[in-house]
Parts: sequence; C-alpha cells; structure tokens
Amino acid sequence: MKIIGTGSALPEKTVTNDDLAAFLDTSDEWIRPRTGIRSRRVISREKLDALAASAAQAALADAGLDASGVDFILCSNVCGEYMTPGLSCIIQGLIGASCPSLDINAACAGFVYALYTANAFMAASGYDRILIVCAEENSRLVDWADRSTCVLFGDAAAAAVVERSAGKPFFHLRTSSNLDSLFARYAPGNSPYAPDQPPRAFLSMQGSFVFKQAVSTMCGDIRAVLEKSGVSEAEVDLFLLHQANYRIIKTIIDRMGAPEDRFPHNIGNYGNTSSASVPLLLDELKRAGRINRGDKVVFSAFGAGLTSAACYMEWE
Ligand code: UT7
Repeated sequence: MKIIGTGSALPEKTVTNDDLAAFLDTSDEWIRPRTGIRSRRVISREKLDALAASAAQAALADAGLDASGVDFILCSNVCGEYMTPGLSCIIQGLIGASCPSLDINAACAGFVYALYTANAFMAASGYDRILIVCAEENSRLVDWADRSTCVLFGDAAAAAVVERSAGKPFFHLRTSSNLDSLFARYAPGNSPYAPDQPPRAFLSMQGSFVFKQAVSTMCGDIRAVLEKSGVSEAEVDLFLLHQANYRIIKTIIDRMGAPEDRFPHNIGNYGNTSSASVPLLLDELKRAGRINRGDKVVFSAFGAGLTSAACYMEWE
C-alpha cells in the first residue's frame, strides 16, 4: 500500500488562547507552556460533513482521481451532527462516489487504524484504492465551561487516498480498556424500560494519567513497529505523531534521542484535532515538499479506549 494523495479542510474561525480567556478562567500563560497550543479552529457556521467532503475532494485531486476512482471509503470520526448514518455515508453522497463505505471510531488513533484497515481490505478484497477521511467536531464533544478540556481541542478534517502497491507497511496496534480516564457519554434515551440511565457527559479526561500513558505507549508502539520493519530509530526521516500536547511530543523526542526536526508539529495552530491531527500534519508536510520518495516515515497516535497504533512505511 502507498499514499497517493492527501487533503485537508479547516473551519474558518480561529479561536486564540486570549479569546478563551475572555469567558473562561484561563490564560495564554497557562495554555501555551503546558501544551504548545496558541490557537485552534472551531466550527461555527460550517458543517463537519462539508469539511470532510472538501478534505476528501482535495485528496482525490492530489491523487489525480475523481470520486469514481476509489473502491471504498473509510471514515474515522468520534463526534459529528449525526449518530446515524455514519459520516462515511454522508461523504460518499457529497463527493458523488458510488462505492461502499464504513465508519470507524478508534478515537485519536483513528487514522492509523484506518490505514491498517485499508491495507487489510486491499489484501482481502479486490479493492485497489481506498479513500480515508478523518473528520472531527471536538467542539461538540467538550464542555465549554470546563477549562481543563475545552482549551485543548480543535475541529478539522483531513484525508488520504491509498493505493495497492508493492510497498509493505508495518503496523503495531493495541487497546488497553480504560473507561474512566477519557470518555464522553451520550444523552440518555427515553426508553420506559431503562429509566435510570446516567446523564450526558461531555468529554472528561484525567490529564496527567493520560499524558503519562500517551508517552509510554507511543514510545513502545514506535519501537515495536520499527523492530518489525527492521529499521532503526536513527534511520527514520519523519515521525508524524498525534498532536495532543507539544510536551508529550517533546518527551517522546527526548526518549527516542532522534533529532527534533524529524518530529514536525503543528499543534500550535490547531490544538488536538483527534484522528484528523496526523493526516492534517501529513498534508501540510506534503504540500510544503517535506516528504520525498524513499523517506522512512512513522505514524503514531494514541487516544480514548485507550487505543494506540503505529505504522511504518517507506514513502513512495
Ligand atoms: O488526544 C487524547 C489524549 N489527550 C492527551 O494526550 C492530553 C494529555 N494530558 C495533558 O496534555 C495535560 O495533562 C494537560 C494539558 C491536560 C494538563 O496539564 P497538567 O500540567 O497535567 O495540569 P493539571 O491537570 O495537573 O492541572 C494543574 C492545575 C489545576 O489546578 P490546581 O488543582 O493545581 O489548583 C487545574 O485546575 O491547572 C488548572 N487548570 C487550568 N488553569 C488554567 C487546568 N486547566 C486549566 C486552564 N487554565 N485551561
């Protein structure tokens, strides 16, 4: 499998740390040194499905394809406007595709899980090209009165088209079930048979626990996937990590001992965009000409579940 096109789409509205401090007991002085975040994009008048479709169309155009050129659509999404149908079905209609589609929810690790799924689908079926779209409306998931979570997240959509090829990616996936440290809960239904359902819960996170888990899990996943591929840490040109907190990325850089410029980051501008963060970074780097044929690339992400995944591939 190889990646033959990328694209992204962001909401128009930029919200700075100072904007948040206007209605929350927080400050740029607190947020920036602890997270690296300066601003984030937040959905206001747009719709997530339209952003997702724009990202998909940009990735198709980058790959030199139209919607009829893909055999399957995989969408990674935690939260949007609709519970059902899945966002992948809405994207299929908006871009004018006719292929089947499927949603996955592996939280912030969703892009790497989608790469794994696409690779497995290609091996198991006749599919030659699969469109992956990661689209996240975190502004709908967080409590805007909770300074410990809402300042961290942003909204975004990013996409990649993958194609069957001789290149062999390596993966390392894991799930370590933990409901308390990171979760959000639907509003209760009105079933007369289940009167005691718990109330809706916006996103809740045990920040310092999740921070430590993120560092140790991502370091372990990266080492595991490199061991499988037979490539050393020093040989890797780019480590594209989930953008949750620059301090997490910096701690991983220090543990890995690889040069800092091999760990590009854009969290300062977008905050944590969940599964969209890795493909958004990939699209920025690709457009800036920072990824070249033959580059050894590692993707690694971590999120609610707790899920995590790493992928190694040589850029074709
Ligand atoms: O993508 C999913 C995975 N998510 C992550 O990877 C996030 C991982 N966790 C983190 O990035 C960090 O733990 C945070 C950035 C969330 C928090 O940083 P921290 O250094 O662990 O801070 P803390 O949670 O220990 O909070 C320290 C203090 C608390 O006050 P007290 O109890 O010490 O008086 C908080 O109430 O900072 C307070 N605080 C804030 N103050 C101003 C929490 N949020 C804010 C805020 N502004 N926005």
